[in-house]
Amino acid sequence: MDLNIKINNNGHLDIGGADTCDLVEQFGTPVYVIDENRIRDNYNRFYNAFSKYYSDFKVFYACKANTNIAVLKILEEERCCIDAVSPGEVYISKKLGFSGDRILFSGNNIRNDEIEFVNGEDVILNIDSVSALKRLAESIKPNGKKISFRVNPMVGAGHHGHCITGGEMSKFGIMETEAVEIYKLAKELGFNPVGMHSHIGSGILNPEPFKLAIESTMNIAGKVHLEAGIDFEFIDFGGGVGIPYTPDENLVDLDTFAKENMALFKAKLEEFDMGQPTLYLEPGRFIVGDSSVLLVTVNSVKESYRKFIGVDAGFNTLLRPAMYDSYHHIVVANKMNEEATQKVDVAGNVCESGDLFARDRPLPDIEEGDILAILNAGAYGFTMASNYNSHPLPAEILVKDGEAFVIRKAQTFDDIFEKQSIPKHLE
Ligand code: LLP
Repeated sequence: MDLNIKINNNGHLDIGGADTCDLVEQFGTPVYVIDENRIRDNYNRFYNAFSKYYSDFKVFYACKANTNIAVLKILEEERCCIDAVSPGEVYISKKLGFSGDRILFSGNNIRNDEIEFVNGEDVILNIDSVSALKRLAESIKPNGKKISFRVNPMVGAGHHGHCITGGEMSKFGIMETEAVEIYKLAKELGFNPVGMHSHIGSGILNPEPFKLAIESTMNIAGKVHLEAGIDFEFIDFGGGVGIPYTPDENLVDLDTFAKENMALFKAKLEEFDMGQPTLYLEPGRFIVGDSSVLLVTVNSVKESYRKFIGVDAGFNTLLRPAMYDSYHHIVVANKMNEEATQKVDVAGNVCESGDLFARDRPLPDIEEGDILAILNAGAYGFTMASNYNSHPLPAEILVKDGEAFVIRKAQTFDDIFEKQSIPKHLE
């Protein structure tokens, strides 16, 4: 069991030195609670694992996983870089102090004005298609601007079909067969293509696909180096390292993982005589996934054809179970020392039958008013939340050494509707 669960002397769930039940009393539910030290630890464990075997290494945190500005600020302090996928992510990262060379922008299907905006922010541009390259050349003066290309290594993996980003069915990246030509074209257009990027998917616990992807990406890079004369300044293998969500899943052995992958990387650099480009990796989930819990209150216990434990959040608050059928471990935060006595369905408050956090989950006796903690909610939790059913988005609390800070206030009803307006003829 590797789920980072801590129980305090009151028999309550602890997060970052704070009692989750106290937090609920103070801030109400639903509420996301984030442990600052866990984010710092995760970042450093990841950075140290790879830099031990390849010193010219940078972590580009995939901020789509969690864009709370306090989270970004923590990682800025750690000297992490940012993988941004939208102009909004570039905007906020710049505002928080990440310089352009610490932001890699990997947009896909972006508009010309968005290309112009991110280019104006002077970030590293990672291009996903010939179309985007040509439009970029038309809308800016290439002037030797350094760019990279995302390639499809034809290896894909992920915890769900929606999260596989390599292979024939994937909309991402350029094909191996067009790679040499695109790099040549980029040079002709006046760019300085110095990077190659690939990303095979998300939530991957098996180390094998990563090895295949490194091999394949490096074969493409080697060919581009030899045939298009590109000297790579960086190679980026994306993110995707999974975290355990169920009690019987295990994290990859990070040291072995880094050692084996770096050996492969270095062998390929040598094979193609490519020097020592900087290695970029883009973990998202690994950095923030297990840093947070979503706390909810049980507001109904219903004996129907099945037993439903109803809580005050739904898939509008944490979408992963409904969208990917993802398992999130659930504990009763105020009864941590009690054994499971029953199997129940944990249901949300959204008006859809698919709004379930768990089916047939073994849990202790549960009464209305109990606090459930939905674990591993730090990645793709809040960032995928919505106002569906007109529920306000919840607050986010950061905990550091037992002290709690509000890092996002809960929305009010007016926040939900404030951007809407009624035309004159309906007044
Ligand atoms: N780099 C690129 C280009 C990506 O597209 C992604 C994730 C990452 C890095 C980070 O992947 P990670 O290390 O977090 O696995 N909403 C889904 C995950 C979607 C991931 C999209 N791209 C989920 O909740 O599981």
